Amino acid sequence: MLKIAVLVSGGGTNLQALINAQENGILKSGRIVEVISSRSGVYALDRAENSGIPSAVCPNEASILDELRKCGAELVVLAGFMKILSPDFLEAVSVPVVNIHPSLIPSFCGKGYYGLKVHEEVIKSGVKITGATVHMVNESVDGGKILSQKAVEVRPHDTPETLQRRVMERAEWVILPRTVEKLCQELSPKIFPKPMHYPGRGIITGMTPSGRIMFAYFIMGRSASSRARVFERSGDDLLIRLTGSDKTLDSSLILYAPVRVMKDCAIVTNGDQTDTVYDALTAGRTFEEALMTREYEPDAPHYTPRISAILTPSGHTQSILKRDGKYFYSYAYTPGQGRLIHTYNHDVMSSEILPSFSGEPRRVIIPDEIDEFAPALWEEFDKDNKVSLYVRYYGAGLTSYEDKLYNKEEN
Ligand code: GAR
Repeated sequence: MLKIAVLVSGGGTNLQALINAQENGILKSGRIVEVISSRSGVYALDRAENSGIPSAVCPNEASILDELRKCGAELVVLAGFMKILSPDFLEAVSVPVVNIHPSLIPSFCGKGYYGLKVHEEVIKSGVKITGATVHMVNESVDGGKILSQKAVEVRPHDTPETLQRRVMERAEWVILPRTVEKLCQELSPKIFPKPMHYPGRGIITGMTPSGRIMFAYFIMGRSASSRARVFERSGDDLLIRLTGSDKTLDSSLILYAPVRVMKDCAIVTNGDQTDTVYDALTAGRTFEEALMTREYEPDAPHYTPRISAILTPSGHTQSILKRDGKYFYSYAYTPGQGRLIHTYNHDVMSSEILPSFSGEPRRVIIPDEIDEFAPALWEEFDKDNKVSLYVRYYGAGLTSYEDKLYNKEEN
């Protein structure tokens, strides 16, 4: 979840709109971690306090920068912030800054146009339509990229105050939360930094920032038979069930237990090597010894790699068995970090041979909440190719857990 700092100078009704959006779920990909005011004694600070959000009064840019760094802000929202930020500040801040302005930019904006002044000028000019704009902040005042706008009518007997109220209610409080949510979604770190339509099958193992061990397993498919599958829980294990009618396929490649659990360890793989590892461990042999007896899948011409992982309380190991060799990668847990391995390396046309995953399992960010991680990952997958996703977050050690299961056929 993205960390948002909101900069204010006055009443804070736009701040309140963001707080409300956070409470009612419109703003779900980011959370306000701090409210920073350019002035003391303003009502926006009371609003922050009433909602339990930390706040600070920062009269100059140096202290704002300092506060932003301390709270780890990843997005800055100017909500009724009445100071013009200098180019030096904007360069130093290094995270995106957005502003809400109470007119339809490029009208009634720039130096001198702020707060009620904007509405006075709108009325004086005789225009019949005004509105609000959310835009990126750059070194030209109110001149950054426009993200959203909403129009509002100017009525014959409007005073600056009645017009301001209408613009706020009908435009500002509506577009600001929605635009901030959209930006948070765009800025949130992705599991796949470049769009990847077909990573194949994949395993993520790692630890949340608060020290909970976790793993995820997903399957994606391109053929009808590969797509006609669902995950099913079986006690603490995970199984795959065919939903299509084609039972003539090499079922060992598509029907297997992706997850099997033993005392103090969990095994996750993309094939029946889960059983090979399970049996070997039961007989006192190791994960590595078990997998050295296996090789890549016999699905010529792709020769899909077998990917596997084992999680124990002290660390996690991932493995890939490819045509060019058998590889093992062992890690101690790092809070907030996971490793991702998947079967294919990059997208190719359906007619081409799928290149195997190469290199070390990729580092990925693991958030604290399964409710944040699992839906975001499911959303990230190509909508045609995704088949199923299973995510498990353990409590202490490797005993109790919470999990999330997605099957395309059931969603
Ligand atoms: C709002 O109308 C906002 O758009 C405007 O000041 C008002 C603050 O209200 N901002 C600017 O004019 C910035 N150039 P609030 O403190 O109740 O959100």
